[in-house]
Amino acid sequence: MKAISLFSCGGIGDLAVSHAGFDILVANELLEDRAEVFKHNHPSTQMIVGDICDKKLEILNATKNLLNGQKLDLVFATPPCQGMSKNGRGYLLNAMRKGVKSTIDPRNQLIIPTIEIFLQSGADTLVMENVPEMENTYIPNPDKDGEFIKILDFIKQSLSNAFVSSVQVIEFADYGVPQNRQRLLSIFTRNEKLKSHFKKYGSLFPNPTHSKDGVFLPKWRTLRDAISHLPKLNAGQFETSFDDSIEYHKVPLLDEEKYFWVSNTPQEKGAFDNQCINPTCKFDKNPTHSAGKDKDGINKSSTETPLYCVKCNSLLPRPWVKTGDEYRLMKGYTSAYKRMSWDVPAGTLTRNLSYACSDKKLHPEQHRTLSLHEAMILHTISDYSFDWKRADGKKVSDKLIRELIGESIPPAGLEKIFLHLTAILNGQIIEAKTEAKQFCLLDD
Ligand SMILES: C[S@@+](CC[C@H](N)C(=O)[O-])C[C@H]1O[C@@H](n2cnc3c(N)ncnc32)[C@H](O)[C@@H]1O
Repeated sequence: MKAISLFSCGGIGDLAVSHAGFDILVANELLEDRAEVFKHNHPSTQMIVGDICDKKLEILNATKNLLNGQKLDLVFATPPCQGMSKNGRGYLLNAMRKGVKSTIDPRNQLIIPTIEIFLQSGADTLVMENVPEMENTYIPNPDKDGEFIKILDFIKQSLSNAFVSSVQVIEFADYGVPQNRQRLLSIFTRNEKLKSHFKKYGSLFPNPTHSKDGVFLPKWRTLRDAISHLPKLNAGQFETSFDDSIEYHKVPLLDEEKYFWVSNTPQEKGAFDNQCINPTCKFDKNPTHSAGKDKDGINKSSTETPLYCVKCNSLLPRPWVKTGDEYRLMKGYTSAYKRMSWDVPAGTLTRNLSYACSDKKLHPEQHRTLSLHEAMILHTISDYSFDWKRADGKKVSDKLIRELIGESIPPAGLEKIFLHLTAILNGQIIEAKTEAKQFCLLDD
């Protein structure tokens, strides 16, 4: 089966597409460094680098040439999601009333060239991935001046009623990924086999393979399952911050103060709650850090949290800011400098995964953040032969690795979704559904 990929980044999501049996003929990505990683890992795909709005014709022509008269089956599109959360309808209407057009994030309108390419490519199926907020994101309606339309409604309005849509928020931990990551997957199709499956079952998504409670399905895979076997690291000193035998099992060093806060943070806790370490006091009931809404409803962390032990007045190992000889508690989220838990999946990996000050980024017990190697396991990239190399031979920076992980979808979870589609297309799904039914009957 033939596919093209839009907003392809380094091609991590595309691992799932190609492993499920699609030949990705053409891909498009705005940024050169990301496209170089894509090219190295998908050498038989024609990568077109540049803004999709300028490259529309080039993408369509390259696809047509490579298809050589065959039919295109799939367009896989993963537009950027950074602008999705704030563009609610009320927010946009307010902004328009005030004449502030710049508040409309132009990235949300990349859906327009996406749909144009999909329709002109003649493909049967469009699979899109985005943040769950996309479901409630509005854009100016290109067909009605001065009006707004939800992105999903715009897509439906643009496609004829020969298409059906199956849209679902997917929790990737439900598909065996040791990471909680929720994404909105939307499938639009006019393929007769997929449509008839949808008519029968009401969904084009596979049943989960794992569950939070572990009652009827295996329990979510945890951090302990995925990374507890790895050699220990310590971000206090260069010599202990990496392991020579495993590529990318390395962490950035913590400076002296951060290391002091982190090394005094017990399992399951955050550094803002650290207790007295004065050996003659060791008081462990100092008030912990908290957050609450202020009079405008904005979430603010408490300003009452002590930085000095309420019993012996020693400085607590809590994140501080020092001005001259004076210390005050650092302002910040209560989840900063917080440890992850061993017995649940990792939280959503972001490009900040190496920053101790970011949201819940500390290793469950060692004094450090996650290594890049651990992030690759938790994101299931290590299940594939993916090289952190660029086609132009330049070095892939750690920053780029973090960005590519933070912006992509765990491929092993996504592969299960694409395999379900290919199983329907190849007529193999009956067996799987029969098993599911038997399972339900037993359950009843
Ligand atoms: C959410 S990421 C895609 C992740 C990718 N599917 C993966 O699994 O690695 C969105 C990508 O769209 C690219 N992008 C943003 N604006 C674009 C534009 N105007 N034209 C083409 N690509 C664009 C970004 O550089 C980014 O790499």
